[in-house]
Amino acid sequence: MTGNGTTDRTDGATRGWDRTGPPSRSRWIRWPEGTHNRAPGDGPHGPIAFGGDYNPEQWPEEVWAEDVRLMREAGVNLATVGVFSWARIQPDPDTWDFAWLDRVLDLLHENGIAVDLATATASPPAWLTTAHPEMLPVDRTGVVLGQGGRQAWSPSSPHYREASLRLVEQMAQRYGDHPALAMWHVSNELGCHNGRSYSAVEEVAFRRWLQERYSTLDELNAAWGTAFWSQHYGAWDEVQPPRAAPSFLNPTQQLDFARFSSDALLDQLRAETEVLHRHTPDVPVTTNFMVMSHFSGVDYATWTPGLDLVSNDHYLMAHDAESYVELALSADHTRGLAGGGPWMLMESSTSAVSWQPVNAAKPAEQLRRNSLTQVARGADAVCFFQWRAARSGAEKYHSAMLPHAGTDSELWRTVVGLGADLQALREVTGSRVVAEVALVLDYEAWWAAELDAHPSAVLRYRDLAQDWYRALWDRGVTVDVVPRGTDLSRYRVVLAPLLYLVRDAQAEAFEEFVHGGGALLTTFFSGIVDEDDHVRLGGYPGAFRDLLGVRADEFRPLLPEQTVAVSGTLGAGTGTLWSEPVRTDDAEVLLTYDDGPSAGYAAVTRATRGSGHAWYAGTHLDRAGRDAVVDGLLAGVTAPAEATDGVEVVLRRGDAGEYLFAINHTDTDGQVHAEGTELLTGASCTAPTTVPAGGVVVLRR
Ligand code: GLA
Repeated sequence: MTGNGTTDRTDGATRGWDRTGPPSRSRWIRWPEGTHNRAPGDGPHGPIAFGGDYNPEQWPEEVWAEDVRLMREAGVNLATVGVFSWARIQPDPDTWDFAWLDRVLDLLHENGIAVDLATATASPPAWLTTAHPEMLPVDRTGVVLGQGGRQAWSPSSPHYREASLRLVEQMAQRYGDHPALAMWHVSNELGCHNGRSYSAVEEVAFRRWLQERYSTLDELNAAWGTAFWSQHYGAWDEVQPPRAAPSFLNPTQQLDFARFSSDALLDQLRAETEVLHRHTPDVPVTTNFMVMSHFSGVDYATWTPGLDLVSNDHYLMAHDAESYVELALSADHTRGLAGGGPWMLMESSTSAVSWQPVNAAKPAEQLRRNSLTQVARGADAVCFFQWRAARSGAEKYHSAMLPHAGTDSELWRTVVGLGADLQALREVTGSRVVAEVALVLDYEAWWAAELDAHPSAVLRYRDLAQDWYRALWDRGVTVDVVPRGTDLSRYRVVLAPLLYLVRDAQAEAFEEFVHGGGALLTTFFSGIVDEDDHVRLGGYPGAFRDLLGVRADEFRPLLPEQTVAVSGTLGAGTGTLWSEPVRTDDAEVLLTYDDGPSAGYAAVTRATRGSGHAWYAGTHLDRAGRDAVVDGLLAGVTAPAEATDGVEVVLRRGDAGEYLFAINHTDTDGQVHAEGTELLTGASCTAPTTVPAGGVVVLRR
């Protein structure tokens, strides 16, 4: 071990669930008898789940019959019910009204539509927050976030916990045996709006959490480095959440608060799950994640072990011209969190969302492509927010499966077409995506890398990861995007860009991987600190110096508009964001800085370790530079089939066969060099198979 790392503090220490890892009792949707769309040709997971959030409580009951009729017409077989219906189910503390929900579940069941039943705890009713205003979340400046929106609860509030668990008990008792029940859906997007609360309630809970992590105040003082700026704590009561302060806050305090906040939500998830497992041990439990470019609020790797299946909500950002790359990365990340197994796309949008500055509509072909990309990358469910477009409320301009315009609309026809596509693909469920490359994406490293008072404030962890991912996407190489702690032995290539914070165990795993013959790439500002955010002394990149065979004694970040020229055996190009005066020990220099603050020093290196290689990029290379590095790194790892530019290719492998998905993101016809039966049309194809402009083919081989 290089650097001066501490022994990892929390990996393996459990709060009832293992700290990281895939679902430990993996279970799929329990399809009820008579499920609409179930057919003999289904794969091991049954049909592909197709449906969305269904909020019948927002509509007069006369509409419900039309809802289920149209759901059947579209091929919908799963509806998520009850997500925001707490106030309707429990209009006051002593009144429960389940009659309407009984009728909804019965109606869905009669129509062969399975139910993903929410615990309904996401948004507490006004009577609860009025009675217990101390349960409201508070922002870092002390502003109380009130009722009138949604998710107005502080994760550690005992009042909220008690009231929500009472509701979950009621739901589980009443519907545990309902024939429509296929799975449970805990809360909704935990942490979406209330992920960091600085309330008095959280202050108490934070201290309790810290006391578990650091048995003594001395230990906390050491970990937080409180000798700095006179921050020493002499009593636990003095320790607070990192509220707004006159200066930079203590970084370890901020990091621990992020960990604590993730754990506080996990406690709620765990508490609800325990109730559900107690009543219905065989019914799978999930909660919908938000794995997408702009959300880093919680460490999902610590949530997955206690879930039965992983589900995700994914929304595109309208300003992203290559949003299909971000979508692929998020899908690969969700699969990584699921341990490589299939997962559910729990929410996406059929067209526009309602929460971006400009809510761009999604062309019909894109909706189809995006949905089938998720399937290609392991989703065995394609669901949307929401079934019927609302006519009131803050999301009335959010798209839905059934738009305001009704069924005489292009969107409705696209949704019906998608239902038919998913039916045609039903045999793929249960098959697994094949990948030989992993990209480590770690929420803790993300939090830490973007803390303040760093050499550069413009490094964006997820964006830099995506830049490297992009090079792999361009080559058609499928990547498992995995959390820390994942067994790397099944991969040939691993990328870990900007892994600023690295635990000792992860650094050791990389060493083992490379010495075992793997190829690893890491970049500048990696391996720098241990899990307490303490610098690993002796030169950069701390934990990885020996493995990479390099050493730098200074960071030389670049100004936002600054570029540096690099050249060498990999070609010539530019770097941005960073440069380091890298001296090599026994590493080979592949690119050198031609100018800039580190002129003459190595910019990209490769060390040979046994039959493995450890690559280092000390600057953010331009696209051509990243391409050159990735070409070297891949050394023989290829796409599952050759395809023309802009055609995305992914392979799923199951007991019954292999399924090659080819998705054409361009507006001209493309080709994939593969053959087989095309599942969407039933045609027999010989290589090369045409992939229509903007279209998709799925070949069974
Ligand atoms: C999230 C929520 C939904 C809805 C959508 C809108 O995914 O879970 O309730 O608000 O966003 O995009």
